[in-house]
Amino acid sequence: MKSTQYSDKVLNHFRNPRNVGTLEGDDVAKGKIGNPVCGDIMEFYIRVKDNKIVDIKFKTFGCGSAIATASMITELAMGRTIDEALKITRKDVADELNGLPPIKMHCSNLATDALRDAINNYKEKQKAKPTEKKTQSAQRTITGVDTFLNHGVYHTVEDMSTLKDKRVMVLDTGKKSVELALEIAQRTPRVVFVTPAKEISVPPALNTKMKQSDIKVLRESELLEIKGLNEVEQVHIHDLNEEEEYDLFVDAVIILQ
Ligand code: FES
Repeated sequence: MKSTQYSDKVLNHFRNPRNVGTLEGDDVAKGKIGNPVCGDIMEFYIRVKDNKIVDIKFKTFGCGSAIATASMITELAMGRTIDEALKITRKDVADELNGLPPIKMHCSNLATDALRDAINNYKEKQKAKPTEKKTQSAQRTITGVDTFLNHGVYHTVEDMSTLKDKRVMVLDTGKKSVELALEIAQRTPRVVFVTPAKEISVPPALNTKMKQSDIKVLRESELLEIKGLNEVEQVHIHDLNEEEEYDLFVDAVIILQ
């Protein structure tokens, strides 16, 4: 390829860039890199689920080659695991575009580096919050689950009407538990949602519904014990942030499986 010649694929991605824009939400990680050669800037946004990139967007103040490489890399990274995406090199992107003029190879660094920055940002965020695994292991050690199973402790809710006006605690076991809590909140104003995380990890629309509901969310908290005589009457909660423990009166505890 001549030093100034662009392949049809580069021109195509430059004229019709894929995945331009930004992403928002607690489950989004962002990367931002400046190109030391030309001073241009690239931002990447990724949404990761089950360790895979399920959504990706970019925004750049770079040149046509930067736009084309960023567009190309979004297509290469989409659906890959974060470790696979980390292995994408500027050569992979240039090859996929059928080559870039040598003078423009530095532009392809911008996209690969910004994607790596976003992935590193995602990894940092993961380290900062308790993982789902921790949530599950915490649940395994709750005292009283077996004792009160079907006497106030439920793994499924067959009939919502039985929870009408009850004090109901729902444990964070993922998206389904959030949806269930919202549904229960239509039958009773006394729903408490317990999560070990700083923020509930669900799509933004669901998060907004939670915020607009009357559900009381106990963040950075875990359920230690369920107590009562024949039925559930109280739960013992550990506030992970304050390192405090306290009791709450509840009629039912929902731990979806
Ligand atoms: Fe700055 Fe291409 S010249 S990114």
